[in-house]
Amino acid sequence: MMMLLFSSVPVLIASSAEAASQITKTQDVGFADKPMLSIPSKIFFGPKDVAFTPYDEYWRNSRSICMLQLLNNKRVQSFSKIREEETSLLLKKIKDSIDSSQVVDLTELFVSMTNDVLCRVALGRKYCDGEEGKKCKTLLLEFVELLGVLNIGDFMPWLAWVNRFNGLNAKVAAEFSAFLESVIEEHMETKIDDEEEESADFVDILLQVQKENKSGFKVEMDSIKAIIMDMFSAGTDTTSTLLEWTMNELLRNPKTAKIKRRAVIKESLRLHSPVPLLPREAIKDTKVLGYDVAAGTQVFVCPWAISRDPTIWENLEEFQPERFLDSSVDYKGLHFGLIPFGAGRRGCPGITFAKVVNELALARMLFHFEFSLPNGTKPEDLDVDEALGITVRRKFPLLVVASPLYILQGGLPPTYARQIMFLFLWLLIVLPNYGGTILKRFSPRGSLGSAFMSE
Ligand code: HEM
Repeated sequence: MMMLLFSSVPVLIASSAEAASQITKTQDVGFADKPMLSIPSKIFFGPKDVAFTPYDEYWRNSRSICMLQLLNNKRVQSFSKIREEETSLLLKKIKDSIDSSQVVDLTELFVSMTNDVLCRVALGRKYCDGEEGKKCKTLLLEFVELLGVLNIGDFMPWLAWVNRFNGLNAKVAAEFSAFLESVIEEHMETKIDDEEEESADFVDILLQVQKENKSGFKVEMDSIKAIIMDMFSAGTDTTSTLLEWTMNELLRNPKTAKIKRRAVIKESLRLHSPVPLLPREAIKDTKVLGYDVAAGTQVFVCPWAISRDPTIWENLEEFQPERFLDSSVDYKGLHFGLIPFGAGRRGCPGITFAKVVNELALARMLFHFEFSLPNGTKPEDLDVDEALGITVRRKFPLLVVASPLYILQGGLPPTYARQIMFLFLWLLIVLPNYGGTILKRFSPRGSLGSAFMSE
């Protein structure tokens, strides 16, 4: 643990599993508040979202709506068709790159896919698709970036002029707000009847809650916008970043690709926690690991450092998914040596949502394609520079060359068609005599994909 003083603001950095457990479990309620930061407060209208609001009745209500209506297991399962369709589109884009001998920008594909999945479940349809949607996509990305901007005035009020919520920032926030207003108006014009309730999207549901006002929770228009904005800012960048780093590590460590996907994803989350800091604020005077912590102290729990604690992890800078094969350690907030989704009552409510999108996308990609680096780049030379921001993405887009492994919907990959036909004829002739032995020996190139698909 480390106590810093940012001008007059005391800031506690918790970088051990023991300190994280104290803050997010033993004293969870005492640290459930969030620091009031000026940029999120402005762009979330108060703030009236979930992630940046103080620990109060409003937070309880808004979080519970998100859990009940969008993020619980049953709701997440009900979006399976959307996930299937969007991951099929991802595969199609990769296949197109093969057909046109192009390098694939996986970063771009992952960002589009996660955005499109969220647009469809939250807003009812895609808004950032194709050429027309480019502006919308850029707007969403700029909005998420804006949240990563640290306003120095939050810590040193006399320096507020250095990094004031400037014209450009205000423009991005206003444009995103106007975009959501038009989406909400569109929903208000299209009434949903009882039979269609099953297919209601998140905006429909929030409008319904607003109308019914059942629990006494007053949902104003700003709240609807802020909660939707939260789903995008908390859900898209994090999910695509995890996919990006997982592919990055599989490319750098091709041997590990045969290991089961859950272990691979856990190890990727250990080395590249998409959210490196969990901000909290002490509600009252207390002690952590014997040290005094005053009410109002800002606290940053650091999953990044905890995942590199030498008392917990061996070979901590190495990508070794096998460490999770016979281990019960999970990332759901119960093992404090691995908390990429945070822990306690402010822990991430989107774990299931993120998990199924990630697992499906990875499994399908690796089942159908093989990936390598362009221009003869060796795996060990792949850069691992990190970008600055609220989520830690790769600094540069992940560019790869794809080649086909299995038959894709809509036709055979041309280079493989003849080989598969030949293999089929060969099996037809030889199988009746030596079938058992041959099948045991036959190991397709796609063993990496089959390991993923078999889980
Ligand atoms: C790989 C993907 C994801 C990662 C790594 C991630 C990580 C995190 C982390 C570290 C926190 C802070 C937890 C804490 O302070 O203890 C958080 C909070 C949150 N996440 Fe996620 N998240 C992911 C996906 C999602 C998705 C898909 C959604 C929703 C669609 C989502 C919605 C939220 C919300 C609303 C909060 C604020 C919770 C609160 O303050 O009560 N996240 N997430």
